[in-house]
Amino acid sequence: MSSTIAVIGTGYVGLTTGACFAHLGHRVICTDVVADKIERLRRGDIPIHEAGLEQIVREHLDDGNLSFVLGSEDAVTEADFVYLCVPTPQSADGAADLSYLKAAASEISAKLKPGAIVVNKSTVPVGSTLLVEQALGRSDVAVVSNPEFLREGTAVDDFLHPDRVVIGADDQAAASRVASLYAGVRAPIMVTDPASAEICKYASNAFLATKLSFTNAIAALCEAVGADVNDVLLGMGYDHRIGHEFLRPGPGWGGSCFPKDSQAIVSIAEDAGYDFSLMRGVIAVNEQQFDRVVDKVESVVDLGGVTVAVLGIAFKANTDDTRQSPALEIMKRLVAKGASVKAYDPAVTSVDLDGIEVVDDAYAACEGASAIVVATEWDEFKWLDLDKIAEVVAERNVIDARNLLDRGALRRRGFSYQGVGRN
Ligand code: NAD
Ligand code: UGA
Repeated sequence: MSSTIAVIGTGYVGLTTGACFAHLGHRVICTDVVADKIERLRRGDIPIHEAGLEQIVREHLDDGNLSFVLGSEDAVTEADFVYLCVPTPQSADGAADLSYLKAAASEISAKLKPGAIVVNKSTVPVGSTLLVEQALGRSDVAVVSNPEFLREGTAVDDFLHPDRVVIGADDQAAASRVASLYAGVRAPIMVTDPASAEICKYASNAFLATKLSFTNAIAALCEAVGADVNDVLLGMGYDHRIGHEFLRPGPGWGGSCFPKDSQAIVSIAEDAGYDFSLMRGVIAVNEQQFDRVVDKVESVVDLGGVTVAVLGIAFKANTDDTRQSPALEIMKRLVAKGASVKAYDPAVTSVDLDGIEVVDDAYAACEGASAIVVATEWDEFKWLDLDKIAEVVAERNVIDARNLLDRGALRRRGFSYQGVGRN
């Protein structure tokens, strides 16, 4: 059955949610407070780099299932469901900042029709369902938690083919109505209470971050004992209880969510009287990982006054998102130690940091560089012309923080090569 859905906030999650619900046959109105974003979206111009999103937005702008309006108040008057997809950034004390959520709920409260359901899709701590209920002040409106598990770069596919849909509600009828929105999606739908749904979201991200910090710690151990981390992880991954997924060592994890959500779960635990020391360790290992990359650069070149090429700016491949990108963490440290950085990324054209020049291609980044750092695992870096790179650099040193390049081919051309967890 088709429903009318308003989506508040058209970022990575809101835009994907809106477009995919339209794709599932619902009538969707997406809103944002940024006028320019709404103008572009009305023309089918997508402000983010996300595979398949533009196509489905255009398809449903054309068939009338999807529309965009500035400001939320008018968007919600006809809505059976209102999805809150606003930011929940990290505040100074590490906890999630809920001011956008509260503001969005207050803005729509007077305009909701009786019996409407407001759904928290933003990542929010325990108690947020109650907080939204209070901000709405409407006893005739139910509030439900429906956290999102999509990844950037594969957002559309993740939304339409999720591993699970989690719904948290005290009101079972409201939970069933939210579940019915996913009728076109083949996935287990789990209904629980709001606190369990909210913790399930944070615990999932925290577990994945733990897996990555563990992987990076094993990579450091491999470097110390002369083992090859790729073989170690392959051998581990064959054990079904461990699996091969999410075991790629790297420059540390980043992005708009793992860093803030790992801090937030520590803060949620602290407020509840539990010291989540394991998670603090996971975060500390990640900070060390950025430093380890810079240490490798310093092991081959004195950073004062030299140029370092950094390949990749986005926090991972196939996105233009640079929020909390490990590449930026590494660049900041290189600049602080006196290096100039020339960076290139296929999807990122500018960086707002002193000492970093963003150039148009990988060869321009490498020109005159004393070391090359591979920070993001874009496919195109695998196919670089190494002879051309050897000619343009000042010194032949590669620090491959993604184990992406062909180390044999580099060494044959006289480059020193350091990967992650393998020599
Ligand atoms: P985002 O910053 O990309 O987008 C948020 C949008 O909300 C912005 O366009 C902003 O202008 C808009 N906005 C803010 N206040 C508003 C208001 N009052 N009315 C209308 N629009 C408003 O954020 P995002 O990455 O989409 O994340 C949103 C939430 O989803 C966060 O809680 C995040 O943790 C969670 N989440 C994100 C991802 C991801 O991959 N990015 C995945 C799962 C969950
Ligand atoms: C992550 C989760 O995977 C999603 O399930 C979740 O919904 C989302 O956070 C969120 O809550 O925002 P995302 O941030 O898009 O998704 O990116 P991931 O693919 O998880 O990568 C996160 C970081 O880990 C990146 O820096 C990436 O390079 C790194 N990573 C990932 C590795 O270093 N190795 C791996 O094997 C996998």
